[in-house]
Amino acid sequence: MLGKFDYIFQKLDDIKEQNLLRKIPFPFVSYDVSHGTVLVDGKEKDVFIFCSNDYLGMTKNEEVLEELEKEVKNFSSGSGASRLVCGNFLPHIEFEDFIREFFGLEKKGKDVLIFNSGWCANVGIISALCDHEGEIFSDELNHASIIDGCRLSKGKVNVFRHRDVNHLEDLLKKSQAKFKLVITDTVFSMDGDVAPLKEISFLCEKYGAVLYVDEAHAFGIFGDGGRGLSYELGVEPDIALFTLSKAVGAFGAFVIAPKDIIKFLISRARSFIFSTALPPFILSAAKRSIQIFSQNHSLRQKVLENAFFLRDEIRGHNLYQFLPSNITAQITPFIVGNEVNTMRVSSLLFERGFFVQGIRPPSVPRGTSRLRITVTAKHTRAEISEFVKNLKDIILDLNLF
Ligand SMILES: Cc1ncc(COP(=O)(O)O)c(C=O)c1O
Repeated sequence: MLGKFDYIFQKLDDIKEQNLLRKIPFPFVSYDVSHGTVLVDGKEKDVFIFCSNDYLGMTKNEEVLEELEKEVKNFSSGSGASRLVCGNFLPHIEFEDFIREFFGLEKKGKDVLIFNSGWCANVGIISALCDHEGEIFSDELNHASIIDGCRLSKGKVNVFRHRDVNHLEDLLKKSQAKFKLVITDTVFSMDGDVAPLKEISFLCEKYGAVLYVDEAHAFGIFGDGGRGLSYELGVEPDIALFTLSKAVGAFGAFVIAPKDIIKFLISRARSFIFSTALPPFILSAAKRSIQIFSQNHSLRQKVLENAFFLRDEIRGHNLYQFLPSNITAQITPFIVGNEVNTMRVSSLLFERGFFVQGIRPPSVPRGTSRLRITVTAKHTRAEISEFVKNLKDIILDLNLF
């Protein structure tokens, strides 16, 4: 007789055979993701981290940590229920007020709603908006949470080639749907390139489609005060999602949309309705973080300068072939290709004191496994140079040229 789990065990064996088994990188645990330092067997070790999304170092910002401490005492460790029940605390309200002001939402007829994470937001919003009479148009390299939101929606999903506005237009032209939703990351999380937002926005107007953008990796980096890439380009998307987990250095997300759409989401987005609200203190910390980084242009600028410097160094070591073109953001994909080699480079870098996680399918298309290198404002040029020098040595040792 077959064991209860044999079917799943077979799948696990397949994952192992394809070299796609994922592991939590224990025994080392991160201690300071804004720059470096991990604990290995309980001992502190300086390992420069080049794969964190804490781009501005806000997870360790003293003022944010003080705010957090104060608010844990003022409020509670948890919120006790969904916001629609009794989990609606003052910091939730104050955070949304702050965002209304920060983005000038009142005069645009828009409003804001907090979600528990970027993941919850994309999954909840997309599936709420698009039923069987709607159609979605989604860039092929959009984040997994968008893909899952599309899968959960009842609408037809059209995937357009990455950043290809001609392909998007062909698909829009053919659509007879009552509701059309075009979705794109603004900064692509695994690729470091950016969406052609002006062109996409133009097509949305032309074909009566709603434009939904995910600003997860642009918030805090691009646009005046870190308001995102749409803001920088002067594009006004209908719906924009922002996470608090990347440059903000906290946790959670919020969406900006027309007032009545926010009303609709409160009644229909299942991840908003059926999940306990974020603990209040995290929103006070997130608000403080945004207040700080929005006033600090040079901090935000430093991240992009570091990213440009990193890519110059990579090119300076003649590692061009690993670097795709079109990268403009703080994320640098270093494409190794093969899964085994990618993980080998990652672990050899760790032995030399640099931590960059390898990224394999299904996070990225097969044959494009990579190191997803990110820099933060805290990295120094000397550290970046040292990192690239070690990377080059490993590439040579493994004969990957
Ligand atoms: C583009 C994009 N959207 C959404 C998310 C999910 O955000 P969160 O980590 O807040 O769940 C991520 C996170 O990796 C992302 O890269």
